[in-house]
Amino acid sequence: MKDIVVSGARPTGNLHLGNYLGAVKQFVKMQDAYTCFFFIADYHSLTTHPNPKDLHNDARTVLIEYLAAGVDPEKVTLYLQSDLPQIPELYLFLNMHAYVGELERVPTFKEKVRTQPDNVNAGLLTYPTLMAADILMHKGTKVPVGKDQEQHLEMARVFARRFNNLYGKEILPEPIAFNMGNELVKVPGLNGAGKMSKSDDGSTAIFLKDTPKELSKKIMRAVTDTGPTEPNQPKAEGVANLFTLMGYVSTPEVVAHFETEYNEMRVRYGDMKKQLAEDMANYLTPIREKIEDLSKNDAYLKKVAEDGAEKARESAKKTIDEIRSVIGFKSF
Ligand code: TYM
Repeated sequence: MKDIVVSGARPTGNLHLGNYLGAVKQFVKMQDAYTCFFFIADYHSLTTHPNPKDLHNDARTVLIEYLAAGVDPEKVTLYLQSDLPQIPELYLFLNMHAYVGELERVPTFKEKVRTQPDNVNAGLLTYPTLMAADILMHKGTKVPVGKDQEQHLEMARVFARRFNNLYGKEILPEPIAFNMGNELVKVPGLNGAGKMSKSDDGSTAIFLKDTPKELSKKIMRAVTDTGPTEPNQPKAEGVANLFTLMGYVSTPEVVAHFETEYNEMRVRYGDMKKQLAEDMANYLTPIREKIEDLSKNDAYLKKVAEDGAEKARESAKKTIDEIRSVIGFKSF
């Protein structure tokens, strides 16, 4: 069977380097090799109750940034999740076979319960079924995502398997998290701990649209330590993160130079950050310039979204008709 690739990102502001390296750069690599469906997960962002204006602007931003990063609407189906009426329909069907106990055990849900106890809504609990609906809608088999989405993919496999077993038919393939580069990535932020994330205050995430000046400001403030006190000392998390980021955007020679400086206790973090800021700016400038151009081209954005919605609905209709018939819905 031919592989189908499906993936998306929530529109909650600008895309950051983690979104790019974990997902969008993969989209661009995969678009020449597979049949691809890439979308803007605007239903998913409703769990945080955005105001209507932000919802629309953020969806537009993600569309622009996907295109600026190189996603080609001539090669892939690029669309807004909310343009497919079949998504909420499949979500409903999958929810009938998703158990509250298993959903409550998903680590991302447990974390939300801890971090936002005042907004533990049913949409958060059933986030994995909505995500499975996105993927299974097009019978996706490969899903380019960062490491943080691994558990959700495991759930999508469980739901597909359960559906097939229940109806005694192999309708829905079991999708896997997939990265052309091999390992799933987890891009660190600049705050010395954890992954780069949209939910931090914006000063520790590197956005694709950041100017060289903004990059320099953020990177110069990145958390490090007071410097190594013995040769080949293990690195503190903040320092290790700077090296990881450097590995993505600098040449191997530059990384090796600072590794040696660190191991021989001569490293000057100021110099290292300056180099990282410069290399990051070189890496991101082509994308930022395209973001600026596309932002002025509403007619093109409208056409891309409309054409994408039409193509995506065609694929979704095929699957949903098959699913409805298997479940037993028939006209009188
Ligand atoms: P979201 O919007 O949080 O992130 C979009 C993509 O970026 C990846 N990502 C990262 N990768 C590496 N390092 C990081 N620091 C980092 N931060 C984010 C995410 O893994 C993701 O691939 N639930 C999804 C959106 C979604 C989806 C889907 C994805 C909805 N339906 C169906 C795939 C298939 C999410 O919230 O991603």
